[in-house]
Amino acid sequence: DSPGLGDKFGRQATDLRISLIDKCNLRCTYCMPADGLAWLPKSKLLTLEEVTRIVRIGVRDLGIRELRLTGGEPLVRVDLAQIIAAVRAEHPDLPISLTTNGVGLAKKAAALAEAGLSRINVSLDTLHAETFATLTRRNHIDSVFEGIDAALAAGLAPVKINAVLMRGINDVQAPELLAWALERGLELRFIEQMPLDADHTWRKDNMVTAAQLRGYLETRFLLSPDTRPRDGAPAERFMVSTPDDPQVILGAVGIIASVSEPFCSDCRRTRITAEGKVMSCLFSREETDLSALLRDGSDDTAVGERWRAAMWGKPRAHGMDHVGLGSKDFVQSDRSMSAIGG
Ligand code: GTP
Ligand code: 5AD
Ligand code: SF4
Repeated sequence: DSPGLGDKFGRQATDLRISLIDKCNLRCTYCMPADGLAWLPKSKLLTLEEVTRIVRIGVRDLGIRELRLTGGEPLVRVDLAQIIAAVRAEHPDLPISLTTNGVGLAKKAAALAEAGLSRINVSLDTLHAETFATLTRRNHIDSVFEGIDAALAAGLAPVKINAVLMRGINDVQAPELLAWALERGLELRFIEQMPLDADHTWRKDNMVTAAQLRGYLETRFLLSPDTRPRDGAPAERFMVSTPDDPQVILGAVGIIASVSEPFCSDCRRTRITAEGKVMSCLFSREETDLSALLRDGSDDTAVGERWRAAMWGKPRAHGMDHVGLGSKDFVQSDRSMSAIGG
C-alpha cells in the first residue's frame, strides 16, 4: 500500500488543484449559465489557513509535487496574493501555478510573481471583441490582452494560453490565434470542449475534435509531434513551422483532446473545490468533504486519510470517448466547470 494518493487503477495523484472561489467575472457559455448561479457564501470558502493546511498535508504526507490554483476566477479572491505567499513561505520549491481568465490581471501580475507564483495559464478563445462577447457574455477582451502583457513583463514564464473551440463561433479563428501566440512567445493550447456547461447543451457530434483542429491549423502551419515524454500532461505538444520554411521552428502548440483522445490512464490530478470537497476526477459523481474535518479540530492524519479514501475511489476514466452521452458509462455532472475549477 503506497502512502500517497493512489487509486485502484495504479495511478498516483501528485498534482493538486485547489479552487479558491466559485465566482467569476465572465460567463463563458461552455462553463457557466448566463445568470442564476448561487455563489457560495464566504463562510463556506476555504480560508487562507485551510488552503495552506491542505497543501501542507498534501506535500508532507501524500506525495503532492505541484499546486495549481483555480476558480471560478481566482483573481476575484481578494487574498490571492496572500494565499500564494503563505504557501510559498512553507514550500520554497513547490511549483505554484494559476489558471485565470486574465481579467484584471494587469494590475496584479507583478504582485503575484512577487508573492511566489511560478507560472500562469490564461484563457483566451479569440482575438476579436465580438466573438469574445459571444463566448463570454462580457466585453473584457482588452483587459485580458493587458493582463497577458503584464504576466510576461512580470516574468511569469511560460505564459500558456487556453482556447476552447466552438463550432461556428471561433473554430475557423484557430490559425490566427496560433500566429498571434507564436509572435509573442506564448504557448497556446487548444482544448476540446467537454460536457461541463451549466445548460447541458454539449453534444459530442457538435464538438470540434482534435483531428478537425489539426486540419484547420494545417491550412497554414506544419505540425510535428514533440518527442519528449508527455509525463501526464493533458496537452499533446507539436512543434510549429510553416511550409515556406519547414526547418524553422516558430514555437509549440498543445492540443488537449480530453474527449477524443483521453489521457485518464495517466491522470495525476486531485482536485479540491472552493468549499473543500475532494473531487477525484473532473467528472466524479462523488465528492468527499474535507472542510468539516478541517473545522472540527480533527488532526492532519484524519484529513489525510479521508483524502486518500476519496482518491482510492477515482473512476478509471470519464467514459465519454467510446460512447455517446446518455449511455450508462457517462452521465453529465450537475457541477459546471466553474464550480470545479478546470
Ligand atoms: P499545465 O499543463 O501544467 O500548465 O496545466 P494544465 O493544462 O493541467 O492546466 P489548465 O488549468 O490550464 O488546464 C487546461 C485544461 O485542460 C483544463 O481546463 C481542462 O479543460 C483540461 N484538463 C486539465 N486537467 C484535466 C483532467 O484531469 N482531465 C481532463 N479531462 N481535462 C483536463
Ligand atoms: N470544456 C473544456 N474546457 C473548458 N474550460 C472551461 N469549461 C470548459 C469545457 N466545458 C476551460 C477554460 C479554462 C480552463 C479553466 O477550463 O477555457 O481555460
Ligand atoms: Fe483525470 Fe478524470 Fe480528467 Fe480523466 S477525466 S484525465 S480521470 S480528471
